[in-house]
Amino acid sequence: MVIFKQLHNFAAFLPISSSLKIFTSKHSLGEHLATLRNTAKTIGFVPTMGALHQGHLSLLAIAQEQTDVVVCSIFVNPTQFNDPKDLEKYPRPIESDIEKLKQAGCDILFNPGVSEMYAANEQWHLELGELENLLEGKFRPGHYQGVTQVVYKLFDIVQPDVAFFGQKDYQQFMVIKKMVDMLKLPVRLVMCPIMREPDGLAMSSRNIHLSPEERKHALVLSKALHWLAANFEPVKISLLIKHCKEMIENEPEVELEYFEAVEPETMHPVKNNSDDLVVLIAARVGHTRLIDNIILK
Ligand code: PAF
Repeated sequence: MVIFKQLHNFAAFLPISSSLKIFTSKHSLGEHLATLRNTAKTIGFVPTMGALHQGHLSLLAIAQEQTDVVVCSIFVNPTQFNDPKDLEKYPRPIESDIEKLKQAGCDILFNPGVSEMYAANEQWHLELGELENLLEGKFRPGHYQGVTQVVYKLFDIVQPDVAFFGQKDYQQFMVIKKMVDMLKLPVRLVMCPIMREPDGLAMSSRNIHLSPEERKHALVLSKALHWLAANFEPVKISLLIKHCKEMIENEPEVELEYFEAVEPETMHPVKNNSDDLVVLIAARVGHTRLIDNIILK
């Protein structure tokens, strides 16, 4: 069956010939999901900001394994950007994203416009405690308020049984987990592994902004993390971190923001003698901000 859907950010109508159903209105998505829930289908949810890559598709594949119906959302959420230029240049290749979702056998795409998601001058504040101001939070003030604001709304609209997020945004996962625990939201969260390019670079929608030269320099992020993992001994963690920081700081075009080993739950810095830890890095490569991490046990 060929159906025609109008997307808010398309000039024209698009013929859609796969079983992917596309909704731009929360009301019609809600109605459709209600009928699925009545037939006892479990709903998996993969929230994204689009510019889909293999990392997103791996979340979809895991969601497809674990749930009956998979909803993917594509919404570039303005409230989580603290730099208007970053928001403006965020890639929005919706046509190729739809194609990728169809190829991946995704059931439903929710692709709302900003006015569908937000009323004018809407306020939001959730007490996230220290997690909000550590690491990413320190460099992107307000970012996690915007993330929790939109994820709360998306959970409310989709009401998923299980939601899938990437480990690359480790702190985002912990923040969303905190919101789910605090507000007792009826959703199970699954953290899915980081997908990497063959040379080690963590997949990210932002990688397309890297020039070929910058992309080569960007490899120092994953190299440092993998070198640390290969040499990991809890007792020497501060020395290993020092070495990695030097490695990154000596790389041309790369400006390190943080490189820290933290306790997985609290995300407090770990100085010594911890068996479980997460090492996180953020750096600017040219004008592109990249993050990466590794979980060590
Ligand atoms: O990780 C992302 O792509 C976004 O932060 C999310 C979770 C879709 C919220 O906008």
